[in-house]
Amino acid sequence: MFKKLALTAVLALSLTSGTANAAGGAGYVEDYSFSFEGPFGTYDTAQLQRGLQVYTEICSACHGLQYVPLRTLHDKGGPELPENQVRAYAAFYEIFDPALDDYREARPTDNFPGSNLENAPDLSLMAKARAGFHGPYGLGINQLFRGMGGAEYIASLLNGYTGEEKEEAGAILYENTAYPGGYISMAPPLWGDDVDFADGSSTELEAVAQDVAAFLMWTAEPKLNHRKQAGFTAVFFLTILTVLLYLTNKRIWAPIKARAKRQPAE
Ligand code: HEC
Repeated sequence: MFKKLALTAVLALSLTSGTANAAGGAGYVEDYSFSFEGPFGTYDTAQLQRGLQVYTEICSACHGLQYVPLRTLHDKGGPELPENQVRAYAAFYEIFDPALDDYREARPTDNFPGSNLENAPDLSLMAKARAGFHGPYGLGINQLFRGMGGAEYIASLLNGYTGEEKEEAGAILYENTAYPGGYISMAPPLWGDDVDFADGSSTELEAVAQDVAAFLMWTAEPKLNHRKQAGFTAVFFLTILTVLLYLTNKRIWAPIKARAKRQPAE
């Protein structure tokens, strides 16, 4: 009985998670495949570098990354810029220094500046904030079963403009198939061919959107590679431990079992 019930529940969940993306006000999220998905997935350094470029040239006009230290651009598992490039990159930004009571060039020890535009949210943690609510009834089942998280949402959002707009209370809203509610106040930031990549990668809208989404996943979860590696090592050692314990257990009980065999219980 219980088996049957459990089976029905699992079936129902797996069926709905495939079809209910577009249902309700939740918005449609495309299941892009990213290099960092799955238990062994890691960030693609070149993609993070391209995403950083897109963020810098386009998104940073309005958005900030105030929780991300500039020096982490050098970290392993991130965009891995050489230190001199990080220094040069930081110098592009002007930040307010309370000690000087004035603006100065940013240094690698500073964080990225915050948002320039008051109603543009900070993007440091956006990929995590929007990670888990896709799937039927916002249960997050798509994230669990299909690895769909905030990066998919951000890429879908950038691809989701329909071209329709409407005016509401003096503000222009743009129709977007990924945004919950269907209308967002961010004008389409990407159109395709917005940037030039040094590595000759595709500059089509869909590719660029995934690059910047991957970069924003890294800002929200910079230790993902490290975490997965630590998890893998832990599971590996636990497996060895399990085998050893099993063998030890057999060994300890062997004489007793042998005795039991020789003189069966009455
Ligand atoms: C012209 C200014 C501007 C630019 C450029 C811009 N944005 Fe936005 N963005 C906004 C505003 C304003 C909002 C708030 C929209 C709202 O709440 O309706 C927003 C919201 C967002 C959100 C949050 C959506 C949500 O679920 O709440 C994400 C993610 C985002 N932007 C990503 C980007 C990315 C990535 C880029 C660069 C490719 C970018 N934005 C460029 C102004 C901008």
